[in-house]
Amino acid sequence: MPLTKNKAVLSWIDEMAAMTRPDRMEWIDGSEEQLEKLRAAACGTGELYRLSEEKLPGCYLHRTAVNDVARVEHRTFICCRRQEDAGPTNNWMAPQEMYAKLKKLYAGSMEGRTMYVIPYSMGIVGSPFAKYGIELTDSIYVVMNMVIMTRVGTEVLDALGDSGDFVRGLHSKAQLDEENRYICHFPEDNTIMSVNSGYGGNVLLGKKCFALRIASFLGRNEGWMAEHMLILGVENPKGEVRYIAAAFPSACGKTNLAMLIPPEIYAKKGYKAWCVGDDIAWLRVGPDGRLWAVNPENGFFGVAPGTNEKSNPNALASTRRNTIFTNVVHNLEDNTVWWEGLNKTPPEHALDWKGQPWDASLGTKGAHPNSRFTAPASGCPCLSHEFYNPQGVPISAIVFGGRRAKTAPLVYQSRSWRHGVFVGSVMASETTAAASGAVGVVRRDPMAMLPFCGYHMGDYWQHWLDMGEKIGQKPKIFNVNWFRTDDKGDFIWPGFGDNLRVIEWILARAFDEADAAGSPIGFLPKPGDINLEGLDLAPETMEELLRVDPALWRAEVDNIREFYGKFGDKLPRELAEELETLSKNLQ
Ligand code: PEP
Ligand code: NA
Ligand code: MN
Repeated sequence: MPLTKNKAVLSWIDEMAAMTRPDRMEWIDGSEEQLEKLRAAACGTGELYRLSEEKLPGCYLHRTAVNDVARVEHRTFICCRRQEDAGPTNNWMAPQEMYAKLKKLYAGSMEGRTMYVIPYSMGIVGSPFAKYGIELTDSIYVVMNMVIMTRVGTEVLDALGDSGDFVRGLHSKAQLDEENRYICHFPEDNTIMSVNSGYGGNVLLGKKCFALRIASFLGRNEGWMAEHMLILGVENPKGEVRYIAAAFPSACGKTNLAMLIPPEIYAKKGYKAWCVGDDIAWLRVGPDGRLWAVNPENGFFGVAPGTNEKSNPNALASTRRNTIFTNVVHNLEDNTVWWEGLNKTPPEHALDWKGQPWDASLGTKGAHPNSRFTAPASGCPCLSHEFYNPQGVPISAIVFGGRRAKTAPLVYQSRSWRHGVFVGSVMASETTAAASGAVGVVRRDPMAMLPFCGYHMGDYWQHWLDMGEKIGQKPKIFNVNWFRTDDKGDFIWPGFGDNLRVIEWILARAFDEADAAGSPIGFLPKPGDINLEGLDLAPETMEELLRVDPALWRAEVDNIREFYGKFGDKLPRELAEELETLSKNLQ
C-alpha cells in the first residue's frame, strides 16, 4: 500500500516500476518492526551477516562484489541540457541520450525482486534546511544504510504533502558488466539514476549524489551552499562554543578532525570538541546575517582501516552498535570484525573482505583499503547537541586544507572573503616520493568539491563570491596543512588532537583576539602565537612549519595559472586578479 496520495510521487514511481518491473513493492515506513523483518530476510539470503549480539549489538557485515568497492568518478555523469553547464571537471552526456541509454539497462532489472520505496530527508524533517528525497532500490543493504545515514519514513511523506519538490532517485543493482555501471545526475530534473553498483557512495543516493551534486546546483539557484565540509564546535573554558567548517580532499583526516580529542593540557583547562558533521555541510545566511550550517546526514560512512583507539576513539565507539560494516575482515573467533590498523592482533580464524579464509601470515590485506562502517551519528560520544538543532550552528571560520610536503605552511589566513575563495579554489594535495622527500604530483581539488560539484566549477566559484556579498558577518577563511615534512620525508607536525592548537589560533583570529604577521600569501601566526604548551616541539620546527618559500610559491603560481586556464572565460575576474596579486607579492 502506498504511504502517500502525492500524485507526483505516485506517477513517478509507476513510471520507474513499469521500466524495472519488480515483482513486489514495499514502502519503508521507518518502523523498527519492518526493518527487523527486512534484516532477517537479508540475513536469510546472505546479503547481510549478523555479528555478535554480545560484542557488537545490532551490527551487520556485508560484502560487495570485488569489482565494486569504491565510488567510480569516471562513470559519474552530470546530465544537463548544455555541456557548458557541467563544466570541464565533470563527465557530461545530454539528458535525452543518457535517459535512453539507462532505460535499456534498467529494463526488467528488478524482475523477481522487490522494489523498496525509501522516503528520506536530508536535514531534520520540517527544518528550514531540510530537503526531501525518495530512493527506489532493489537492495535491502541500501535500505538499511539509508536508514542510518538519513531520516527515513512516513513523517517525510507527511512533511512533503502533495508537493512535487523532492529528489527522485532510482537505484538498481542490475549486475551487468562493469562498463554498464552509471551514476547519473540530472540536476535540471531533480533526478539521480544509479545502476549496476552496490557500493555506498554509488548507491546511497542521499549522500554524495543528492547532498553534494544535486544540492550544490540547488544551492546556487536558491542562494545557499552545499559543501564537502566537516562541522566542528570548540568549547573554551568559559563554556562558549565556536564553530568551524572545514574542507579537505580524501585521505587528509576529515573524520579525525571532526571527532578530535583535545590534548591533555587543553582538556585540563576545560576545552571540549564537539562533532556536528564529518562530511557534508549545508550553509545558509541566517536572519542575523551570519552563515549557519547543518549536517544534512544522520550517520557516518567512514573508512574503517586505520580507525583505532588512538587515531579516532570517538569514531570507533560510534561503530560498537547498530552499525553496518562493509568489506572488512570477519573475525570467526568471536563473530566480530577487524581491519588493518584496528590493533596489532589480527584474528587467526577469519574471512577476508572477499569471504575467503584469511590470516595475517598470507601477507594480503584482510580488509579492503576502502572498507567502511555505516554508523548512526547518535552513537558518537562527542556528538554536539546542536546536531539536533534545526537552525544549525553559526560558522566563525572556514578552513581549507590539503596535503603538501613543503609549499603550504601549517596555517595561514586569507586577507578577505574574496582572497579566501581564491585559496579554496586552488586547494591541492600532492603525493610525496617517500624517503627522498621529493615533491610528487599536485592534484588540485577546489574546495574538495572536484568530484562533487553538480555544475561548472567556474560558476561555482562565482557563487562563492556572490555569497560573500550576502553574508553580513563573514566567516574568516584559513588554509591548514598538517602534512609538512622534513628532508627525510617525515611529518614534523604531530597532527590529530594537537591540531586544536592551530584551531585555537584560527578561532582567536576569527574573533579578533589574536595578532598575525603579513606575508605574500596572507596572514601568518607570529612566533609564539601557536600554543605549544605540553608539546615537545622545538621553536625552530615551528619556524619551519610556518616558512613560506618564495621560490616554491612562484612555481605554485605557474601551476595555478595553468590550472585556471581550463576554465576559460568562466574563471571569475576576481580570482584571476587574486592570482596576479599573489604573483606580485612574491616578486
Ligand atoms: C564514498 O566513497 O562513498 C564516500 C562517502 O566518499 P568519501 O569517503 O571519499 O567522502
Ligand atoms: Na571512496
Ligand atoms: Mn567525503
